[in-house]
Amino acid sequence: MSRYLFDNAARQTQARLIALESCYDAFSRRQLELAGLAESWRCLEVGAGGGSLGDWLGEQVGADGEVTVTDIEPRWAEAAPRPRPANVRLLRHDIVHDPLPGQYYDLVHARLVLLHLPQRLRVLQRLVTALRPGGRLVLEEFDCSWIPLLAVPDEGAADLFEHVLAALWAQLEKAGADPRWGRRVYGAMRAAGLEDVTATTYAESWPGGSTGACLHRANIEQVAGLLTADGITADELARFYALIQDPAFAVNSYPLISVRGRRPETEAAR
Ligand SMILES: C[S@@+](CC[C@H](N)C(=O)[O-])C[C@H]1O[C@@H](n2cnc3c(N)ncnc32)[C@H](O)[C@@H]1O
Repeated sequence: MSRYLFDNAARQTQARLIALESCYDAFSRRQLELAGLAESWRCLEVGAGGGSLGDWLGEQVGADGEVTVTDIEPRWAEAAPRPRPANVRLLRHDIVHDPLPGQYYDLVHARLVLLHLPQRLRVLQRLVTALRPGGRLVLEEFDCSWIPLLAVPDEGAADLFEHVLAALWAQLEKAGADPRWGRRVYGAMRAAGLEDVTATTYAESWPGGSTGACLHRANIEQVAGLLTADGITADELARFYALIQDPAFAVNSYPLISVRGRRPETEAAR
């Protein structure tokens, strides 16, 4: 099993997945369309989370297409409060170790999964191998190093926000994640032999109390025990939670860097 800091068994998971879907799904759907998504395609959605994109893919590819949706802990996608298209198959599956078909999929998509995996380059190669020649890979990842504060009630608030977030990055790195993976994906996909690699980045403002701000709360709350063991005080955590609810506060969202590329039709073209 791989390590994943934000284990889906935790009670904060639902808030995280709702925030991700609400803030990023519209952009991700557009990137998947730009990758050429078409009826009758075979798709692999890795790291389903709440499962919204897998279900949407099922609607797009129609009855002649198929979508395999995987997650190491698929309980949230299983419990999603909407009908699942009949062509969508949900699997408990570890993308690091479990089997994948070779040269099979027209499209493989993963959002915010490889960032967390120490074996991300090996997983990237596995995803490329699972594509049919000419198949598309779309990877979407955060660059956590660029989230400028846009409005703060006071200077102390900026220091507090950055101090708590820095402690979170340290925990992610200890678990084998790469918080800057988003900026490395384009180069990694070219190095993996993909063609026509294109990156598009999305960011927006997240005011205090917004759905996006709730993502910060879910993330910090879930690892609060680790943060306090590393020196963040209970008072700092309480002030952090109050700050991200404050209407005078706003932060840039995590920039989601969406990179799409195509497996060459022939090995000679690589
Ligand atoms: C940050 S969430 C992103 C969820 C969804 N892709 C989204 O963007 O809304 C990461 C997801 O990847 C899953 N995950 C983590 N490690 C995994 C692994 N080794 N194989 C498959 N899924 C994994 C987690 O369980 C979680 O659902």
